[in-house]
Amino acid sequence: MTDRQQLIAGLIADVPDFPRPGVMFKDITPLLASPAGFEAAVTALVEAAPRDIDVVVGMEARGFIFAAPVALALGAGFVPVRKPGKLPGETISESFELEYGFETLTVHRDAIRPGARVLVIDDVLATGGTVGATAALLRQMGAELVHVAVLMELSFLEGRARLAELGVDNVTAVL
Ligand code: PRP
Repeated sequence: MTDRQQLIAGLIADVPDFPRPGVMFKDITPLLASPAGFEAAVTALVEAAPRDIDVVVGMEARGFIFAAPVALALGAGFVPVRKPGKLPGETISESFELEYGFETLTVHRDAIRPGARVLVIDDVLATGGTVGATAALLRQMGAELVHVAVLMELSFLEGRARLAELGVDNVTAVL
């Protein structure tokens, strides 16, 4: 691990049995509360970004925290992918399976022009459901998903393999 990775990892707390028994929750609030830690996390995500990104997409809610400063650093726009019922305009939706039940993500139909070069940013890649649904939304809009960068990957959940099945294989994880 680099010094930067150590700084970031040391500021992410493992919380057992949250939000359900048996789940080890990764709490990023200590990282966000540390100016040096937050800066290191955003810089690492910016460094993972390819050139000439038009739009950075972040997913509600924790994805927003990292995607917005990355967009500013890259001189790109920011587009939020939201949970249902939050966006006022015409939306498109994608549903995906969670461990128990379904989740739906939405985005404004005209938020991204066809052919735009898009970077997707989130805090955690777990099962890959969130990034997979976001990739499907981008496909519906005709946008080009150039890269996915996440702060941490829970590799035992095999999200990367699920994404590869969906044709998304350009994924970088800081941790
Ligand atoms: C978390 C996290 C990612 C997603 C990863 O979000 O911020 O977006 O789960 O999991 P996956 O790879 O299995 O889809 P959550 O749905 O808990 O929402 P939040 O950001 O609003 O807390």
